[in-house]
Amino acid sequence: MAEDMKFRRHRRLRSSAAMRDLVRETHLHATDFIYPIFILEGENTKNEVSSMPGVFQITLDLLEKELQEVKALGIRSVIFFGVPNEKDEQGSGAFSDEGIIQRATRKAKEVDPELLVVADTCLCEYTSHGHCGVVHDGDVENDESLELLAKTAVSQAKAGADIIAPSNMMDGFVKVIRAALDEAGFKEIPIMSYAVKYASAYYGPFRDAADSTPQFGDRKTYQMDPANRLEALKEAETDLAEGADMLIVKPSLVYLDVMREVRNMSNVPLVAYNVSGEYAMVKAAALNGWIDEKRVVLETLLSMKRAGANMIITYHAKDAAKWLQEEN
Ligand code: PBG
Ligand code: ZN
Repeated sequence: MAEDMKFRRHRRLRSSAAMRDLVRETHLHATDFIYPIFILEGENTKNEVSSMPGVFQITLDLLEKELQEVKALGIRSVIFFGVPNEKDEQGSGAFSDEGIIQRATRKAKEVDPELLVVADTCLCEYTSHGHCGVVHDGDVENDESLELLAKTAVSQAKAGADIIAPSNMMDGFVKVIRAALDEAGFKEIPIMSYAVKYASAYYGPFRDAADSTPQFGDRKTYQMDPANRLEALKEAETDLAEGADMLIVKPSLVYLDVMREVRNMSNVPLVAYNVSGEYAMVKAAALNGWIDEKRVVLETLLSMKRAGANMIITYHAKDAAKWLQEEN
């Protein structure tokens, strides 16, 4: 070869599986995953969510078996969402000590004290109007909602939750929840804040699963405008200043640019929420035989870590953990 044909040979480091493994920059582990579980009132019922094939609402009596499966796959964290029988104006099921999530949390800690239970702190699954806060004259009241969210967080911690994850997008929620947890003696319970949460169409299937669609209007006055990037940094900065221990960026896939920017401006663990609509799209294509589900899912999850996430809340967790086990 002529002397002037010298160029950089990137392919040297792709020559074999062992070589590629050696130089790989990003890895997926089952311990990165937080698996969402929808808890239904009643007994012996397992309903598949129509827009989320492979995801079920289950009753409390089926939780033990589910948690054992999760554990056997090496997943060590779950997040619970409640599907209560009764809803009211205030969403009192969210902060009742006998609420569905409080009971599920106690059960989980009984079955396996080492499993990390993340509590989603919001009202929308429990309010008759489906909004994440208290509604007056068609408006979601910020400060009044904070009191109820603080009560919810404390009751979740009392039930045994290991991590409090407020998802409601009221201003000041980290500050108020931190103060309430401290005062109730839960100084050591971390807050994983849904700091950057966009008003996204990708939550559609979740609202079927959790029966939490707003009965009027939308969430655009409290969740973020998808067009905004600087606003994400402002939200993240505020939550860090208020004492958040970890930050969530949600959704994930069409916001990986935002994840990267939040990574670059903060030094706390970051969480990607791989939301219901992202799951539904992959599942639909997979069920049609249009894509290779295993490869697409693992590549998708990897992209979130490459963008800067340390962990991922994902409905694919069980499948992905299984596939990762197979590869070892
Ligand atoms: C409740 C909540 C939502 C999600 C997580 N917590 C729905 C919403 O804000 O409308 C969405 C999760 C998903 O789509 O997978 N505040
Ligand atoms: Zn909500």
